[in-house]
Amino acid sequence: MKFSLAFAALAGLVSARPSFLDLARRDGAIKYTDPETGFAFSEFKAAYTLTSNIVYRFALPSDPPSGPYDAVIQVVAPVQVGWTGLAWGGTMLKNPLTVAYPNGNSGPTVSSRWATAHSTPMTYTGATYTILSNGNRANGTHWQYTALCRGCTQWNTGSSTVRLNPTGSSRLAFAYSPGRPSSPSSNTSSIPVHEVANAWSHDFSLGLNPNFQELLVKNGVS
Ligand code: HEM
Repeated sequence: MKFSLAFAALAGLVSARPSFLDLARRDGAIKYTDPETGFAFSEFKAAYTLTSNIVYRFALPSDPPSGPYDAVIQVVAPVQVGWTGLAWGGTMLKNPLTVAYPNGNSGPTVSSRWATAHSTPMTYTGATYTILSNGNRANGTHWQYTALCRGCTQWNTGSSTVRLNPTGSSRLAFAYSPGRPSSPSSNTSSIPVHEVANAWSHDFSLGLNPNFQELLVKNGVS
């Protein structure tokens, strides 16, 4: 069954004050320096139930080129999360979707997707992912991945080019499903529909890294 927190809040299913949606948004992004990879990330905890969060982190170069630029995404999800997606343009449609799911002890699978309708997103070759040598794991409580994305900060919707402002705030969205993908080791696996999808305004400026390239090298990406 599909469940939207926004809808629940509007329908009065979540009646506590402030509303759950407000709470999720009010917390905003914070700066997080990851001891394992060394990157400074802007971090947002996205609530997918009243008590559970998926953590999304973004590290950007502080002096990126004017066109597309690299980004590092780190996601920490409780084991109950079957797959989670991040929509770089804040909506399901016509923007890069970073979908990931646990794959046993091998570390999570990251899958590049794009949707033009509210149905299973297709593979998107406009964004490519390189898993860093640090910051990936699965244990009894959580799974986590850290990946470099090329193609996540600028894209073409078909009618316009969108570029994320590294020193400003943009709308991001996430989706969550407790259901497992059919082929967890494959980045083209089919995935069940999400139970929760929600959006927030994200301040990327909290995750700028003057030594971005150097940190990539330290984390196994040449
Ligand atoms: C099996 C795959 C998927 C199916 C069948 C599916 C289906 C849908 C449907 C039917 C809606 C409309 C809900 C409503 O109007 O109440 C929706 C909304 C949404 N979905 Fe998906 N979805 C899928 C995967 C994804 C993925 C991978 C993401 C990645 C983040 C995503 C993000 C969203 C978001 C943010 C919304 C809110 C409305 C919007 O932005 O368009 N979905 N989805």
